[in-house]
Amino acid sequence: MSKVNKSVDRRSFLKTAALSGAALSIVPQFAFGNNKKGDIKEVRIGFIGVGGRGKWHLRNILKNDKVIVPAICDIDPEAVKRALNICNEEGHKKPDVYDKGEYAFMDLLARDDIDGVVIATPWTWHTPMSVAAMKAGKYVGVEVSAATTLQECWDLVNTYEETKSPLMILENVCYRRDVMAVMNMVRSGVFGELLHATCGYRHDLRHVKFNPGAEFGKGAKGEARWRTQHSLLHNGDLYPTHGVGPIAEMMNINRGNQFLTLTSHATKSRGLHKYIVEHGGEGHPNAKLKWALGDIVTSVIETAKGETIIVTHDTNSPKPYSLDFKVQGTQGLTEFDGLADDIQNHRIYIEGKSKREDKWDNLDPWLEKYDHPLWKKYGKFAVGAGHGGMDFFVDRSFVETVRRKVQPQLDVYDAAAWSAITPLSERSIAEGGMPQAFPDFTRGQWVKRKPVFALNDDY
Ligand SMILES: NC(=O)c1ccc[n+]([C@@H]2O[C@H](COP(=O)([O-])OP(=O)(O)OC[C@H]3O[C@@H](n4cnc5c(N)ncnc54)[C@H](O)[C@@H]3O)[C@@H](O)[C@H]2O)c1
Repeated sequence: MSKVNKSVDRRSFLKTAALSGAALSIVPQFAFGNNKKGDIKEVRIGFIGVGGRGKWHLRNILKNDKVIVPAICDIDPEAVKRALNICNEEGHKKPDVYDKGEYAFMDLLARDDIDGVVIATPWTWHTPMSVAAMKAGKYVGVEVSAATTLQECWDLVNTYEETKSPLMILENVCYRRDVMAVMNMVRSGVFGELLHATCGYRHDLRHVKFNPGAEFGKGAKGEARWRTQHSLLHNGDLYPTHGVGPIAEMMNINRGNQFLTLTSHATKSRGLHKYIVEHGGEGHPNAKLKWALGDIVTSVIETAKGETIIVTHDTNSPKPYSLDFKVQGTQGLTEFDGLADDIQNHRIYIEGKSKREDKWDNLDPWLEKYDHPLWKKYGKFAVGAGHGGMDFFVDRSFVETVRRKVQPQLDVYDAAAWSAITPLSERSIAEGGMPQAFPDFTRGQWVKRKPVFALNDDY
């Protein structure tokens, strides 16, 4: 590979590993690929929640000329307006709009011309909407996390088992290019037998939790309308799936392996109060609030196969974005973060393979060698989408799942096990770090279920 190509490739890894919170730009019209003329029927996807996140899914999915969007639902007129503009810009017929109240989504679900729905609403709506959608016979693609309580995790599993309507958790980081390459390395035995991993969500969200200034709740903007409230009420890992989803796939959780127990600890809470004072003054009414969420929540998960995973939630103090990935086995380890342009965060050591004994090597040549077949095949379209790389793949996977009428590769059992970290960590912290057992959402099936994620080169 020429020097120029190499640097382009390096840049594309960095770009496509960008924040799951940055803007999605243009994906080429033909980007969904693999649609030989006449080989499929149209896939009809409805959207519930077309705010910050839902509108990216909408634009991305509208690029697929085999997808029709018959209807959208949102209770915010501005969000509806933006979504209709996106439909117009993408040359799509105006969808019907359901916007009359918080349960308008039930009317969308009652339609018989919708095969699947993308749900991108505030967290507490995910399970009620997913359950209703499965009962209405729709394929469900639900944003992260899928559930906020253990009861909700069970509601998702039980409803799937009753209705057989498949649910996919739309965890885009599982499709990040460096993540998929490392997963390929895990599967190829580069690290030997896995022992340990770290991951987490280390993202300074203070400006998201308060917007504008020191405001949140009714009258605030974007996620400050609902997300911040969780930090007031809950001390736990509120957002575990971006980190733990990829590691769970590398460790075959629910497919030959299982999360067994979790212990969690939290630091004191300082960052949110400090931010309010800095942006609203000591006298601001929000400066009186007592925040439940510790600034840094650290959980340790033990798996049935004897691995440990450290998961961090760290959203209330200044820091560059990181998902803190480390994957370690009997042969060596890698520490990587696709955003880092710094070998310190992008390194590998493999016994007998690394150039220097006891010194890190650059991970890049390994990422290139183990680039996942999906990225090799469709990466050129995803890279053209800027940040949209991983979103391209997660949306494509959902659409293909619906089109082929197959089981999703990130399924309801994954959604339940990953989302359960939130209530379990809250309980562990409340009990002074006591271990909490993960429910076996698969009811014993994990022993014989086989890995499926990204094992084909098509979706
Ligand atoms: N995977 C990722 O990279 C990523 C990135 C950002 C957000 N998210 C997730 O996406 C979800 C949505 O986040 P967001 O940033 O879009 O939030 P947002 O507040 O910008 O959008 C949520 C939308 O849901 C609408 N809504 C609320 N209640 C509704 C109801 N009852 N019926 C219909 N619409 C309703 C709101 O009006 C709003 O437009 C969250 O779960 C968040 O964690 C994921």
